[in-house]
This record gives sequence, C-alpha cells and structure tokens, in this order.
Amino acid sequence: MFARLYFSILALALISRMVDPRVVRLWLGDGTTPNLQEVIIGRCYNYIRVVNPSIGERNCTAIWNAFREAFIYRNACSVLPSDYQTFIFLASHQVPPNKALFWEKTKRLVHRYSDTTRRMMPLGDTLIGWLGDDLTWCGSSSGDGLDYMSCPTTAECEHNPVESFWRIASTTYASLSSGVIQVMLNGSVSDGAYPENSFFAKFELPYLRKDNISEVQIWVMDEVGGPDVESCGTESVGVLQRILKEEGFNHTCTDNYRAVRILQCVDSPSHPACLCPSAASTLQLLDLHLLTILLSFLF
Ligand SMILES: *[C@@H]1O[C@H](CO)[C@@H](O)[C@H](O)[C@H]1NC(C)=O
Ligand SMILES: *[C@@H]1O[C@H](CO)[C@@H](O)[C@H](O)[C@H]1NC(C)=O
Ligand SMILES: *[C@@H]1O[C@H](CO)[C@@H](O)[C@H](O)[C@H]1NC(C)=O
Ligand SMILES: *[C@@H]1O[C@H](CO)[C@@H](O)[C@H](O)[C@H]1NC(C)=O
Repeated sequence: MFARLYFSILALALISRMVDPRVVRLWLGDGTTPNLQEVIIGRCYNYIRVVNPSIGERNCTAIWNAFREAFIYRNACSVLPSDYQTFIFLASHQVPPNKALFWEKTKRLVHRYSDTTRRMMPLGDTLIGWLGDDLTWCGSSSGDGLDYMSCPTTAECEHNPVESFWRIASTTYASLSSGVIQVMLNGSVSDGAYPENSFFAKFELPYLRKDNISEVQIWVMDEVGGPDVESCGTESVGVLQRILKEEGFNHTCTDNYRAVRILQCVDSPSHPACLCPSAASTLQLLDLHLLTILLSFLF
C-alpha cells in the first residue's frame, strides 16, 4: 500500500520533471537571468537618464514589451533576428561618426577604451547592446513564459533568442556606422584574430555602408608580454585586409596601437613592453653617460 503510493508519487514527480521545463534542464546553456524584466527596464532607464541622455526620450516599458514579445512562451529554437524588429525600431539611435568600434576577442579592453560612450561607441555602449550585455534569456511554454533552468547554445540550435538578438543588433549597428571606423582584434589568440565565422565577419563587415565610411582602421593588440601570434599583413588579419581592399574600403592596420597599448600597460607598468620608447632610450643614453664618467674616473 505504502509502496504503491510511494511509487505513484515517484512516477508523478518523474513525469512532471519530463514535461515542465522549469524543473528539467533541456539545454546546455545557462537559463534566463533571474529578474530579467527588472534588469532590462533598469538598464534602459540608466542608459537614457545617466549613461547617454543625448539619444532622447524613450519608453522603457514599451522597449521591454517589444523585447519579450520576440521570445516569451515561444520555442527556444525558433526565434529569428526579425522577431526583434519592433524592439530594434524602438531602441536604436545614431552612432556618432568616427565613434564606431568593432571588435573580436578583445571585449574588456574595448570597453575600457570606449569609456561608456565618452571616447568611442562600440555596440555594447549603444542602448541595444547595453540592454543585452551578458544576459541570457529564452522562452518556455509554461510558468511565466521564461526558462530559468537552461537555454540553447548556438551549437544546439542556431535560431535561439540570444544569438538572434546579437545578429540583428550587430547588423543594425554596422549599418549605422559612419566616418572613420575602428576594428580591435586580438593578436595573441591562437585560433585566428579574424575568424571567418566571427560576428564581425558574418554580421558586421557585410552590413557596413561603404558610402558612409571614409576609412577602416584595424588595431591588432597583443597581450602585454603575451604571444605575438598575429600581426598586420599576415594570416587572418591579412585575409581581412585583402577583403577590405577588394571591397574598396580605405584602410590602415596598426600593430599594438599606442593609445590602447598605454591602457593595457596600466596593469603592468614596469613590463619592458610598457616602457615608452623615448624614455627607454633616454635611460640607455643616461647609462652610457654614467658609464663614460665611471670609466674616465677609473682610467
Ligand atoms: C509606454 O508604453 C507603455 C506600453 O506600451 C504604455 O502603456 C505607456 O502609456 C507608454 N508611456 C508613455 C509615457 O508613452
Ligand atoms: C586576447 O586573447 C588572449 C588569449 O586568448 C586572452 O587571454 C586575452 O584576454 C585577450 N585579450 C583581450 C584584450 O581580450
Ligand atoms: C549613410 O548613407 C545613406 C545612403 O547611402 C544615407 O541615407 C545616410 O544618411 C548615411 N548615414 C550617415 C550616418 O552618414
Ligand atoms: C581615405 O582616407 C583618407 C585619410 O583618412 C581620407 O583623407 C580620404 O578621403 C579617404 N578616401 C576615401 C575614398 O574615403
């Protein structure tokens, strides 16, 4: 009797775990960020009131509604970039000329350099990128329509809500960029500074409006003291330069662009790679001078 009751409860529990996505992990990726609505609405008001009020008045409730409509209660593998169209329409704004900064594998350095729109405006410093940065979300057919347990990775299914969001965010950002644009690549990675399947290659470069862009400046940044795997003119950076040339973009490429290098050096000021060339040579001259004086005393 008790055993039967026990087993039926067990069976019920098992069945409910099978059908309720809130209690079973369907996917390999992290689940929806808790308090997603509060995070998005809070970030939205922070952006328009504090970070960059210059974009003008926005309705953050309407922006959240348009955002959630793209994926809430929906299959987490059938959300397309176009499902975010209303959201993009409500949240997009101009990218000031000469302030667009594209990147691949240099996210933290890019954001330190951009200084939250003061110096540059990479995608993460636009309202759209600001809202989605580092969050996860996907739909569920039950509960409040969100799956908090797990969300699909792009390897599991391409048309997942987060991937589709960043695809339309990237193509929109690229099409709004103008003037001199920058691309910061990582010269210390072993799997390609400019991989063919990267977001920059697939969803940004093809969507740039050539007529609006006067020059593309590539910066290849190595880690301070890290390996120098890729440089301008070689390997995948060379591929990018060839593509830009073929497409008719005016472009330059700089290894370890000095302004960004100085920022990297904040964390390791005494590393030899961080000593200013002029200071270093002054030091050498000084050494030589001292040596001469010393020698003249000795002999
Ligand atoms: C903002 O959008 C919401 C939802 O669409 C709407 O109910 C509200 O009236 C709007 N607020 C303003 C100030 O327009
Ligand atoms: C560049 O790539 C290396 C190796 O993957 C990584 O350790 C480093 O953090 C990256 N640099 C930046 C600025 O993200
Ligand atoms: C970009 O070019 C299009 C037409 O090619 C033009 O309508 C638009 O105003 C330009 N945008 C900027 C920011 O220059
Ligand atoms: C190429 O870049 C140079 C330097 O920024 C600029 O003076 C020139 O007008 C650009 N040419 C075109 C075709 O955009």
